[in-house]
Amino acid sequence: MRLLHLLALSLLISVSGAKFSGRPGVNYGQLGNNLPSPADSVNLIKSLNAKRVKLYDANPKILTALNGTDITVSVMVPNELIVNISKSESLSDDWIRSNILPFYPTTKIRYLLVGNEILSFPDSELKSSLVPAMRKIQRSLKSLGVKKVKVGTTLAVDVLQSSFPPSSGEFRSDISGLVMKPMLQFLNRTKSFLFVDVYPYFAWAQDPTHVDLDYAIFESSNVTVTDPVTNLTYHNLFDQMIDAFVFAMKRLGYPDLRIWVAETGWPNNGDYDQIGANIYNAATYNRNVVKKLAADPPVGTPARPGKVLPAFVFALYNENQKTGPGTERHFGLLHPNGTQVYGIDLSGKTTEYKESLPAPENNEFYKGKIWCVVAKGANWTQLGDALSYACSQGNNTCDPIQRGGPCHKPDLTVLHASYAFSSYWAQFRKTGGTCSFNGLATQTIKDPSYGRCEFPSVTL
Ligand SMILES: *[C@@H]1O[C@H](CO)[C@@H](O)[C@H](O)[C@H]1NC(C)=O
Ligand SMILES: *[C@@H]1O[C@H](CO)[C@@H](O)[C@H](O)[C@H]1NC(C)=O
Ligand SMILES: *[C@@H]1O[C@H](CO)[C@@H](O)[C@H](O)[C@H]1NC(C)=O
Ligand SMILES: *[C@@H]1O[C@H](CO)[C@@H](O)[C@H](O)[C@H]1NC(C)=O
Ligand SMILES: *[C@@H]1O[C@H](CO)[C@@H](O)[C@H](O)[C@H]1NC(C)=O
Ligand SMILES: *[C@@H]1O[C@H](CO)[C@@H](O)[C@H](O)[C@H]1NC(C)=O
Ligand SMILES: *[C@@H]1O[C@H](CO)[C@@H](O)[C@H](O)[C@H]1NC(C)=O
Ligand SMILES: *[C@@H]1O[C@H](CO)[C@@H](O)[C@H](O)[C@H]1NC(C)=O
Repeated sequence: MRLLHLLALSLLISVSGAKFSGRPGVNYGQLGNNLPSPADSVNLIKSLNAKRVKLYDANPKILTALNGTDITVSVMVPNELIVNISKSESLSDDWIRSNILPFYPTTKIRYLLVGNEILSFPDSELKSSLVPAMRKIQRSLKSLGVKKVKVGTTLAVDVLQSSFPPSSGEFRSDISGLVMKPMLQFLNRTKSFLFVDVYPYFAWAQDPTHVDLDYAIFESSNVTVTDPVTNLTYHNLFDQMIDAFVFAMKRLGYPDLRIWVAETGWPNNGDYDQIGANIYNAATYNRNVVKKLAADPPVGTPARPGKVLPAFVFALYNENQKTGPGTERHFGLLHPNGTQVYGIDLSGKTTEYKESLPAPENNEFYKGKIWCVVAKGANWTQLGDALSYACSQGNNTCDPIQRGGPCHKPDLTVLHASYAFSSYWAQFRKTGGTCSFNGLATQTIKDPSYGRCEFPSVTL
């Protein structure tokens, strides 16, 4: 009787198609003004052997380009709509009607993420609207006959107030009871996933003296961390971070809810005041994470051995219009011209890469002076506004470039902008100012001073 039952079950599984795979997909971010078309991008996604793609919106051109392919798709409800959708079933219905129905089912939309890292924003109305919005969206999908789409939302690691050792994993007290508990109940009931953004890069870069780089990039043979409560032994930072979420969920009564890594990756370049962002580390991390996640049978984590852990690598392209530090613009597997930054195969089948990687040059902090200047390829028509903004901040920021000043060069806006950026950054870096100016600025260690004109610098 029992045996028959089991047999029937295994038959059922084998006829229901390919088993659920851990082979990672890729995040297709579009914050660049030089990126390939959606159709070309779909071909590039295929060339990486990715079978899954995650979008940060429901871009109709991309969903059309994915029509008829076997790539499964995760789309996103933009953050700005969450509060309104949480209050209105008809708005929720409308969103599904105009963004999903035109493409479903021939574009294989499978996941619908309601907002991106909503719980990392201070806005309390936004936070309390999240789960109600997820429920509305779920109801709309059901009433409009969309059966195969699971609803979730992405969480950054700052939703945890404690994550080390992993067994101490605990959600922040401001969201634990109010948001996470109902969210976990929703995700568990709908058999969805907890979607988490996990970056060993940032965890390591914040504390490189206490965290071993090799442990962060899966290259450590001798560094292990044992959780004193569970006795589980960790061989890499990624597993440690994932298991912190496992224990945080367990604490709220959901020990078995599946996790999906919505983003993970490593920057291939960055700024002089950042550490470890280089091709060597990025290639090593991403190749190793793919190998781990695509392994068959699945490896899992110490708290969940043997369990499939689906994921999306961040990101398809280096995106030149992302704001913030330089690393943000350099998470891509591909350059904007479509070539690979380093060899990478998301199927996990390539185990040996022939190319030799450039030796890492910035695994320790740079010491010396840095200036902030106009980036190569910056849009000159936008420089004027950035220049005015920089000059309007701080104390006497742009005096030397005024007429009669030692740095004044008539008609050389670019030079003046470089001066203004350096002068701004020298004053504001310590309080969080960045050398970015919407992608118009970049750091340099080459002193741009000339003649009697000395550019202010940041000393590390
Ligand atoms: C949300 O609804 C309010 C009130 O109807 C409206 O003023 C606002 O524009 C809406 N926000 C968005 C992003 O649609
Ligand atoms: C998707 O492809 C199918 C079959 O080729 C076609 O009938 C349908 O119109 C296409 N959908 C879109 C949104 O382009
Ligand atoms: C979560 O879902 C599983 C499977 O459907 C169910 O057995 C379990 O009771 C649920 N957990 C909670 C706390 O509701
Ligand atoms: C681990 O091994 C590496 C290379 O053999 C060595 O440089 C490092 O000091 C070792 N670390 C520890 C904690 O033993
Ligand atoms: C962990 O190991 C210690 C020492 O061997 C033992 O006393 C303890 O019971 C173990 N804890 C668990 C959760 O297995
Ligand atoms: C693509 O872009 C990268 C980065 O700018 C550059 O190094 C490479 O030579 C380019 N390749 C082609 C084929 O244009
Ligand atoms: C440069 O910026 C201007 C103003 O924002 C914009 O109209 C123009 O299209 C941009 N040029 C390029 C090449 O991006
Ligand atoms: C500008 O000068 C004032 C007064 O000396 C000082 O308190 C302030 O911190 C300065 N601002 C910056 C950005 O350095």
